Amino acid sequence: MVPLKICDNIYYVGVVDHDLRYFHGYATQKGTTYNSYLILDEKVTLIDTVKAGFGDELIRNISHIIDPSKIDYIISNHVEMDHSGSIPKIMEYAKNATIVTSSPSGEKGLRLHYGDKYNYKVVKSGDTLNLGKHNLSFYLTPMVHWPDNMVCYLQEEKILFSNDAFGLHYASSQRFDDECEMQTIIEEAKKYYANIVMPYRDNAQKAIKSIENLEIKYICNSHGIIWRTYIDKIIELYKKWSTFENEERAIIVYDTMWGSTKSMAVSIEEAFLKKGIATKLSNLQTTHMSDIIKDILDAKYVCVGSPTLNNNMLPTIGGFLTYLKGLRPKNKIGLAFGSYGWGGESVAQIETILKECGMELLQDKIKIQYVPKSEDLETITKSIYEKL
Ligand code: FEO
Repeated sequence: MVPLKICDNIYYVGVVDHDLRYFHGYATQKGTTYNSYLILDEKVTLIDTVKAGFGDELIRNISHIIDPSKIDYIISNHVEMDHSGSIPKIMEYAKNATIVTSSPSGEKGLRLHYGDKYNYKVVKSGDTLNLGKHNLSFYLTPMVHWPDNMVCYLQEEKILFSNDAFGLHYASSQRFDDECEMQTIIEEAKKYYANIVMPYRDNAQKAIKSIENLEIKYICNSHGIIWRTYIDKIIELYKKWSTFENEERAIIVYDTMWGSTKSMAVSIEEAFLKKGIATKLSNLQTTHMSDIIKDILDAKYVCVGSPTLNNNMLPTIGGFLTYLKGLRPKNKIGLAFGSYGWGGESVAQIETILKECGMELLQDKIKIQYVPKSEDLETITKSIYEKL
């Protein structure tokens, strides 16, 4: 792609990956981007690189603006390979460049990935690097999303290079938030937060605090579009998401063998709807778990149902609950339900995991043998309705 000038001497040189559909458990139906930025100054500086395999494209993009061998600094805000993977490619050209990374986790992580052959300069929160006319300040933001994460702020242009924070997996020809449909990018940012940042809420809050007093004209993240118009909105949403401010909403997740667990799900849905609580039914056969996680992020109720198969819950539900538990949701009220033929172990298994997720239970688990009768379904609706 043709590099994009963000403002004088600052360019977007990243790459768009329209084809990515899977990112360690996360369904990226809209692809992604690996964002990299070039600052022209006495010290030519590259902010992050791109995933390995896209390095030649990064070099081509940089070459439109400057000879890549002139790069003095590579700022590695994050060791994960979607951002550091092309450091070796850049170093083939800019042999004497210095890699600037966080102390100690960034340096350690980069050495473990790429060896000891490069020059490293480590920074900590509050350090500033002079590039000539520009100054770059660093703020360590550990665990948003790895221990090494940091963000940096270009003082003169008021640009926050935020890496994973405020990112979204969204491939498009547009580069700025106000060039895209707002609802779409907010939903994608929410999905990104829920699936990547949710377990690290305390760290996300600390990161927000560390940048709170900065005047920001652009948030140049490392995935998706650059924020310039909706900056206040995305920061406000990060505050909301990181405190698990729930909406009065129920997410009902299920899989079904012969339709019995599905009809139980529908009877549970009826209880919420009768109470005026917004509800969403999601069948794991047709909805990817990463999309369901996005819905759960700010929903108060999480109901999970599975029939029993070979003394266990269905593998779709098992995988989903493992994923959910790892994301450490907070402030949720759970409910386990499902049909069974003889053993009926699945529902207790679900309930145990919901409790392990720290959820209170709306009521005791609901089990129905074989096929629920219409009076069973009415009883389920009534019982839940009365607890809401
Ligand atoms: Fe986009 Fe944690 O890497």
